[in-house]
Amino acid sequence: MLSNTSEIYPVRWQEDRVVLIDQTRLPNEYTLVEISRCHDLAEAIKSMIVRGAPAIGVAAAYGMYLGAREIKTDDTQEFHQELAKIAQLLRATRPTAVNLFWAITRMLKTADETPGTVEEITAALLKTAQSIQTEDVQTCKTIGQNGLLALPQQPAKLRILTHCNTGSLATAGYGTALGVIRAVKSAGRLERVYADETRPRLQGAKLTAWECVQENIPVTVITDNMAAHCMKKGMIDAVIVGADRITARGDTANKIGTYALAVVSKMHQVPFFVAAPLSTVDFDLTDGEDIPIEERDSAEIYQVGKTRICPEGVDFYNPAFDVTPAELITGIITERGTVEPEDLLSLKA
Ligand code: MRU
Repeated sequence: MLSNTSEIYPVRWQEDRVVLIDQTRLPNEYTLVEISRCHDLAEAIKSMIVRGAPAIGVAAAYGMYLGAREIKTDDTQEFHQELAKIAQLLRATRPTAVNLFWAITRMLKTADETPGTVEEITAALLKTAQSIQTEDVQTCKTIGQNGLLALPQQPAKLRILTHCNTGSLATAGYGTALGVIRAVKSAGRLERVYADETRPRLQGAKLTAWECVQENIPVTVITDNMAAHCMKKGMIDAVIVGADRITARGDTANKIGTYALAVVSKMHQVPFFVAAPLSTVDFDLTDGEDIPIEERDSAEIYQVGKTRICPEGVDFYNPAFDVTPAELITGIITERGTVEPEDLLSLKA
């Protein structure tokens, strides 16, 4: 166990390089990976060493800076052209979480709006990446407080079900849905967290459970197919999940299995909340069916550890995310307050 849980920062800028917690090795090994080249950072996003929508946004922002300092020119026009190629390399890493695209756009804007030499623009890029990181921690803390206010007042102590990982590891620090859970715990209102294991990559069983242990949050891990049963038995007071992309009308892409949870929550009248920063809202999209859904390698399904669990000769389908329609969502908890999905547009300004 870490000696100090405030140490859970999945992306750090240290001694001129990016330091990532290798999330593919948790919970068995706590390993740090040092990255000083843009290409390696892109690979770390692809291979899920760093994962979770806000965390990959922060990582991509630093990736833009690493790429910028690799550009060998003093000509600003040529620099901007090369930076656009770096943006393209990073955009191609993962398609669903909009925070990645949001962070890259913000970095490009910094480059466009900074007058001066290539050296000065590059220095401004590092500052923006650092701001994206520090702002996200503060944003998550505010989401935590807003979530505390939005949750039902009864019972006094809540049993909250969550899916995937939405904690410090999935953000710059603190977490979105798990951040709300941390705030609920600090307020003395948490009975227990139920964490879906989250097949196939097991973010719940591996990462959420690990973070809960670090934070002394009482946690029960269940397999994904147990959630409906737990709700029918009256074991769950609220569901809180994170998001990878929310459209202007509130349709929400999140880890595969979220949609099924929302459907059973409706059936059992359990409030279903999405907690996310506004950087996860894609105001350019309305219909959730237009969100690009990443499909990952089928080995994630047929292989557990090093063991193949399915026979040869079968086909696989492995979408990493699904879309929950807005009408199944009780409230979207943001840093600007909690709104019903149809009121999301009011936060755009
Ligand atoms: O494939 P991953 O592990 O990057 O997916 C992560 C999720 O789906 C999270 O629930 C989401 O990014 C919210 S993170 C605060």
